[in-house]
Amino acid sequence: MRSEEPRSVRLSEYRPPDYLIDQVDLDVVLDGDKTLVTSVLEIRPNPEGRSNVPLVLDGDEITLAGPPLLDNDELTPEAYVETPQALRIHMPPKRAFSLKITTKLDPAKNTKLMGLYRSGAAYCTQCEAEGFRRITYFIDRPDVLSTYRVRIEAGRKEAPVLLSNGNPVEAGLLPNGRHYAVWDDPWPKPCYLFALVGGDLGVVRDSFVTVSGRHVGLAIYVEHGKEDRASYAMDALKRSMKWDEDVFGREYDLQVFNIVAVSDFNMGAMENKGLNVFNDKYVLASGDTATDGDYAGIEAVIAHEYFHNWTGNRITCRDWFQLCLKEGLTVFRDQEFTADMRSRPVERISDVRGLRAIQFVEDAGPFAHPVRPDTYREINNFYTATVYEKGAEVIRMLQALIGRDAFRLGMEFYFSRHDGRAATIEEFIACFADASATDLSQFLLWYSQAGTPEVAATSSWDEDTGTYTLNLLQTVPKTPGQDIKKPMVIPLAFGLLGMDGEDLPIGGDNAESGLIVLNKAEHSFAFRGLNSRPVLSINRTFSAPVKLTTDLTENDLFFLARYDSDPFNRWQALQTAALRVLIRSVHAVRGGNRPLNDPRLAEAFASAIADPEIDPALLAQLLALPSETDIAREIGNDVDPDAIYAARIGLKRALARFVRGALADLYRGLVNDGPYSPDARAAGRRALRATALDLICAEQDDASAMLAFAHYSAANNMTDRMSGLAVLSGIDRPERDQAFADFYKRHKGDALVLDKWLSLQAVIPEAGTLDRVRRLMKHEAFSMANPNRVRALIGAFAASNPTQFNRADGAGFDFLADIVIDLDPKNPQVAARLLGAFRSWRALEPGRRGRAEFALKRIAATDKLSPDVSDLVIRALA
Ligand code: ARG
Ligand code: ZN
Repeated sequence: MRSEEPRSVRLSEYRPPDYLIDQVDLDVVLDGDKTLVTSVLEIRPNPEGRSNVPLVLDGDEITLAGPPLLDNDELTPEAYVETPQALRIHMPPKRAFSLKITTKLDPAKNTKLMGLYRSGAAYCTQCEAEGFRRITYFIDRPDVLSTYRVRIEAGRKEAPVLLSNGNPVEAGLLPNGRHYAVWDDPWPKPCYLFALVGGDLGVVRDSFVTVSGRHVGLAIYVEHGKEDRASYAMDALKRSMKWDEDVFGREYDLQVFNIVAVSDFNMGAMENKGLNVFNDKYVLASGDTATDGDYAGIEAVIAHEYFHNWTGNRITCRDWFQLCLKEGLTVFRDQEFTADMRSRPVERISDVRGLRAIQFVEDAGPFAHPVRPDTYREINNFYTATVYEKGAEVIRMLQALIGRDAFRLGMEFYFSRHDGRAATIEEFIACFADASATDLSQFLLWYSQAGTPEVAATSSWDEDTGTYTLNLLQTVPKTPGQDIKKPMVIPLAFGLLGMDGEDLPIGGDNAESGLIVLNKAEHSFAFRGLNSRPVLSINRTFSAPVKLTTDLTENDLFFLARYDSDPFNRWQALQTAALRVLIRSVHAVRGGNRPLNDPRLAEAFASAIADPEIDPALLAQLLALPSETDIAREIGNDVDPDAIYAARIGLKRALARFVRGALADLYRGLVNDGPYSPDARAAGRRALRATALDLICAEQDDASAMLAFAHYSAANNMTDRMSGLAVLSGIDRPERDQAFADFYKRHKGDALVLDKWLSLQAVIPEAGTLDRVRRLMKHEAFSMANPNRVRALIGAFAASNPTQFNRADGAGFDFLADIVIDLDPKNPQVAARLLGAFRSWRALEPGRRGRAEFALKRIAATDKLSPDVSDLVIRALA
């Protein structure tokens, strides 16, 4: 490692701030490359902090425009020092005082997209986690809460729209074609929730009347000409506001709620108080430009950011270790919202698919960390699937353990006890312990122990006494820095199915409720008085985020797939059965044999297709085989991505051949010539039709190319167009190039739509793909400066093209290493995200593992790496 190792921050070393800032008055003059920010801070010593210590204000890539003023007096040069990372006032008064600071910055040169930067026709900000220090010197930590008054000044033509947090209080004209606006946010907040926008933007307006009758003005700002693409986001916003009132009793608390969509954004969106800033990908949609998946993503992210108003903003985090306090909880809330808006089982299945594909993989590799990490070098690297998605699973388990009513009461305690404050996980959990009169200390292990627990379920049956005994054994694997683990509290929803497929009444032990709580390393549960050996359905609804192995036979699995009253476990049973075949098949392929199949799996597919009770969205999930990532994760080590690909496509072909007739009928029966509507029902039908198409075309022959091309050509919406193009992209026939060319012609100039075009090409599982990706980097549709473009092309290649990124010759790894090294100085956060593709490099077979290690070492040896990238390479190679 040529660069210095970044310093670690530790949870155990938390100390309250020495100073507090009660009020912030900001004056921001936006004027091309000489933006001036003047801040007046009302500061006082924190009675809980140390006394007689210097005041250290964080700063990053900013400079003072002049000496700071303390209570209106200029500080002498001896009284303070400005360093690259701080402004230090050596001996501040031991009483409340005001400090006035003016800093200079150049938003147009800000390529890191943290702090104040330029995106298209707007200036905008991103401050979480530590971006506010790139705007002005400040105590940049979430436990310093202040009220803000913000004045923004800019050219009227350049920036007719001037927005900040809170309520608008004043606006007016100034000489020389300039104007200003003043915003006041009455709610104390940490500086990471600060936001400012100035620009020339179009707007869509609406309103919402809260449960207590207050009128809220809603506005979504987008690029001019794209206003009509914001209506779905607006609708989702209103539904979110209503849902949070109905389900959590949370009312909105300002006169306005503004959303601004920008095209350059490092993440998905940001919950700044009263002024959410969004990646435009999560705002803009029309039937012609967005897929059903995009619509669902918009609905979820709009809800997520809105829900942060209470879980994150009104109650924030004491320090960044507590990130899951707001993120896990808010993901849980947005998942529940989607489940209520759409199909609960389908939402659960897709959340679990995502959890396993990303979080389980993260948890099994070098980047594994607890839901609440206890140390970090760069906090931006902890906006992870573990903090977000596993964090949400932990909340879901809490609800399962104490029951819905106690959970709601606990949430009420949380809102009333901690409103206006910065809280910790312990304080949050105490609310639920009190609400349920339960000791949750063992449950807290879910926050501190990394790794996916493994539960093995075995059973025995005593015919004479009619007793079914279930033995459960849990283990938690080692993870970096955690060799020894304690048993966790694992809530397992379950049922026992009788011979006719009905749920049997369950008596005995602590199992009346259909919930087993496994809180020891090993435990047995007996069920008596049964007439015949039951079939176990366990971890229903995926009540615990664990890896489960059972002694269920394949016939048991097919029985569950058909009869389980829990739709999630019907899906799970088919996935498990398919995974078993696929893993045997991978071994066969590596031994030089043909891929395997299992006729019983095909029968199960056929009976699912024939079952009129299954709704289309669920059937689409039932018919989708485990992904290559699922298979790799299950295999765990010595992974050969080519063999996995061969096994999977082989099984898909065999299944498709078996149910060919039924698939063709299904496909034909689902045609919809009506106008496009993004509602869940219509989306479910399109999803099923796309799944049918994908299976029918598994042969990847001439007929497949023709059918997929016809599907593509007949499409009257982006969802169908993309499902045709996605299938075609895997078929090396002239129709493929024709369709890609046609798509480009149709959507030329529409960057968000072309991202789909870039991604599909990047994930083609063929040897020519890396060269194609290199060519596309020179295409006019691509730009290394825009995070969406980088993720669409390079991110998709690295994260979603297992065979080509993991090429046996290492060219995929070398390519990504070059990109990361090149991008790091410009945008370290995006560079670091790309490195996530190495999250399971040690699980690869030895040849590929060696090449991956070589690429990682080359990055590690690069001069002046950012803390973001160096932290990840250190951990990857540890
Ligand atoms: N709080 C935002 C959200 O989840 C994400 C912001 C992440 N920012 C970052 N720089 N890592 O809604
Ligand atoms: Zn969030």
